[in-house]
Amino acid sequence: MTAAVRVEGLVKHYGKISALSGISFEIAEGELFALLGPNGAGKTTTIRILTGLTRPTAGRAFFFGRDIFSSPLYARRLAGLVPQATNLDLELTVWENLLIHGLLFGMSRGRIRERAEELLRFAGLWERRGDRVRALSGGMRRRLLIIRALMHEPRILFLDEPTVGLDPHIRRRLWGLIKQIQARGTTILLTTHYIEEAEFLADRVAFLEQGRIVALDTPQNLMAALGEVAVDLVDDEGLSTRYFRTREEAEREAVKLSRAGKSVTIRRVNLEDAFLHFTGRRV
Ligand SMILES: Nc1ncnc2c1ncn2[C@@H]1O[C@H](COP(=O)(O)OP(=O)(O)O)[C@@H](O)[C@H]1O
Ligand SMILES: [Mg+2]
Repeated sequence: MTAAVRVEGLVKHYGKISALSGISFEIAEGELFALLGPNGAGKTTTIRILTGLTRPTAGRAFFFGRDIFSSPLYARRLAGLVPQATNLDLELTVWENLLIHGLLFGMSRGRIRERAEELLRFAGLWERRGDRVRALSGGMRRRLLIIRALMHEPRILFLDEPTVGLDPHIRRRLWGLIKQIQARGTTILLTTHYIEEAEFLADRVAFLEQGRIVALDTPQNLMAALGEVAVDLVDDEGLSTRYFRTREEAEREAVKLSRAGKSVTIRRVNLEDAFLHFTGRRV
C-alpha cells in the first residue's frame, strides 16, 4: 500500500545551523505518527517543509506517492496545518475565521457554511460562533485552530505541539478530539515534547534529537526494548533505574536492594524510560 506520507533523507540547513540531518519515515493512511523531541530538535522544521512553508536543503517527500515539491498545489490541498503559534485573527469572530480559511481554499459559500457548522458542533464551539476569538479561552482557541485546519477536508493533518501550555483537563479534551479526527480516517503527524502525549496518542513514535531520528517504532515496542518492569533506586549517587523482563525478577531485585538499605520503587516501564534510553537526555 502507498504510504500517506513518505519522507526520504530530509536535510535542512539554516546557514551553519543544521536543523535536519537526513530524516526518513513513512506514515500509513489513517495512522497517527508522532515526532517527539526537545526544543530545537527539528519538529517544526519538518512540518514547515511538509506543508510547503520552506524548502528542504535536500531530500524528497511524497503524499500518497506523489512528489510534494513538484506538485505544491496538490500537496497544499491534501494537508491541513495547525501551527505551533496560534495565528487566528483575534478581532474576527469564530465563524469569520473559518469562512476566510474556506475562501482561501476556494470552497463555495454553501460548502463553507455546511462544513463550518459540522466542525463547530464537533468541537463544541457552535454556541460561540458569533464571538470574537479574543473572547475565547486558550483551550477553545486551540480547538478552533484545529477545526480551521480541517475546513477543506485535508487527508493529512499536521499538528505542531497542539497542547503546549494547556492545563491537564483541557489537554485531555484535545486528545479526545485528535483521536476522533483520526477515527474519521484522517492521517495525522503530530509533534510534541510531552512524552505522555506521544505515548497516549501515537500509533508510532519517532524520537527526534538534533535533527536525527534516533529510534522509531510503536510505543509498545520502544518500551519493550528495555523490559516490562522498572526498579527505581535512590541512594547517595542519586536516582538510577534498572529494567527487568518480568515482575518476579524485578521484585527479587527490589527485595535484595531494600535489604541492603536502599530506597526502591517498582513500576511499569513507560515511554520516558525508552526516550532516555535512546536519546540519553531529558526532554
Ligand atoms: N528560520 C530559522 N532560521 C535559523 N534557524 C532556525 C530557523 N528555524 C529553526 N531554526 C533552528 O533550527 C533548529 C530546529 O528548530 P525547530 O524545527 O523549530 O525545532 P523544534 O520545533 O523541534 O523546537 C533549531 O536549532 C532552530 O534554532
Ligand atoms: Mg517547534
